[in-house]
Amino acid sequence: MTAPTASNESLMEEIVGLCKRRGFIFPSSEIYGGYSGFYDYGPLGVELRNNIKQAWWRDFVHRRDDVVGLDSSIIMHPKIWKASGHIDGFSDPMVDCKESKKRYRADQLFYAPVVLDDEGCGYVAYVEGADQASIIKQAKKLRDSLDKKQAKLDEDKLLGEATEFTESDDAVREKTLGPDASKVGTLTAPREFKLMFETKVGPLADDSAVAYLRPETAQGIFANYKNIVDTGRVKIPFGIAQTGKAFRNEITPRNFIFRSREFEQMEIEYFISPEADWKQLHREWLDTCIDWLVSIGLPRESVTEDVHPQEKLAFYSQATTDLMFQFPHGEQELWGIACRSDYDLKQHQQHSGKSMEIFDEASKSKFVPHVIEPSLGVDRTLLAVLTAAYCEDEVPNDKGTAEKRTLLKFSPKIAPYKAAVFPLLKNKPELVERADALYRKLQRRWNVFYDASGAIGRRYRRQDEIGTPFGITIDFDTIEKDGTVTLRDRDTCEQRRVSEDELIDFLEAQIEG
Ligand code: GAP
Repeated sequence: MTAPTASNESLMEEIVGLCKRRGFIFPSSEIYGGYSGFYDYGPLGVELRNNIKQAWWRDFVHRRDDVVGLDSSIIMHPKIWKASGHIDGFSDPMVDCKESKKRYRADQLFYAPVVLDDEGCGYVAYVEGADQASIIKQAKKLRDSLDKKQAKLDEDKLLGEATEFTESDDAVREKTLGPDASKVGTLTAPREFKLMFETKVGPLADDSAVAYLRPETAQGIFANYKNIVDTGRVKIPFGIAQTGKAFRNEITPRNFIFRSREFEQMEIEYFISPEADWKQLHREWLDTCIDWLVSIGLPRESVTEDVHPQEKLAFYSQATTDLMFQFPHGEQELWGIACRSDYDLKQHQQHSGKSMEIFDEASKSKFVPHVIEPSLGVDRTLLAVLTAAYCEDEVPNDKGTAEKRTLLKFSPKIAPYKAAVFPLLKNKPELVERADALYRKLQRRWNVFYDASGAIGRRYRRQDEIGTPFGITIDFDTIEKDGTVTLRDRDTCEQRRVSEDELIDFLEAQIEG
């Protein structure tokens, strides 16, 4: 059981507000009131998203000799989902509240004992990420309903003994006050809800036409494994990588883009010999994945490991460790890295009747490989990046008075705009011309921004808020003296003069290094 961690609701509100205000992320179908669990990425969001995906592809496919790419279809033969176990087993345990009509995921609902004057008097249920004050308030509501207003509430027990609701029994539920209920005993036992979206393919509307929107990209990799082994020059160990949309009918889409119904994944199936030291390889993948998260700007200390206990693993799974990140709503899974044995390939071998064996030159033997599966969500990575980058500080304005500023400290590798070019004054054609020429030159390589309007300090501030790491100003020294430009650093606000050549080398190292 993962104990719930504190949430920072105001940080989430700031991030959601900034994303909307500056064109990163909009609620889907907003002109019709929105559509729960779906989001649209605006001009800045799509750049950030693409940069994350490109950095992942570059580091995990292009810069490795042992991984190749794939782009499989979203709708695949329904037998794939039968073989993978999704048709029979891909569901979430849900709990309904008979009073408030709200629905909760059982593995995100917790109950804690309400002990009054040393006597157990019932339980309160709360959703993961709830803050301590609201849990205490709920317990006091239960105390008052029991006519024990004067009794002393044991806050240590209340806040220190959380149990996942999946482990509740009838006796507990009868005495539990739900998160949005006024009476005890309104929560149902957990029940399974199917997560795959169904659709129909072809002219027939009967059951034979039923197909599914993929709930993960991984099965497309297993379904193409044989094609790649037969046509590519891969040898064990090797990986197949894929990025693409996945769809899940999440019952409680929540926490902005953290859990949505349409999202994107970046997955690798890394095929290894059954004789390989999978523990060692699992560790190596964990380290590689952590390093990558740090390389795109997440502080090392914000990423932790959650090792799934043996008794919670699926029967075929050898080990799963999630990389966790401190999101605004609490510490949650960002990247799952699982050792899935030969289960998936053997399932497809059995259901398709096609051999999934590979001949390994090195050991001169034939086998069905085992896999290590690092599986990461693009949208969740984007939320982690926004959380790590969001920052407020004070800097002097044009008049020298301290002013609050909001900034996004994106790594230059993934920032939507890499730099912004400013002529110091917009009514001086010689400055404007020179700035425009530099802007056009940089634009051939990177996504850069040009802004000539407003006081220079305001222009810097606008770029700080959308995470542009560098400001480049063309002033009179540029045209009258040595051709140098002012290069301003977003995070420190430090300015220095550099030549055009130095500027290009510097940007290249920061953005592509
Ligand atoms: N093939 C394995 C697999 O799909 P998962 O833990 O269900 O495993 C992997 O998903 C990753 O996909 C998660 O760690 C998360 O980053 C992302 N993800 C899963 N469900 C999501 C959702 N509803 N919304 C956004 N991202 C999601």
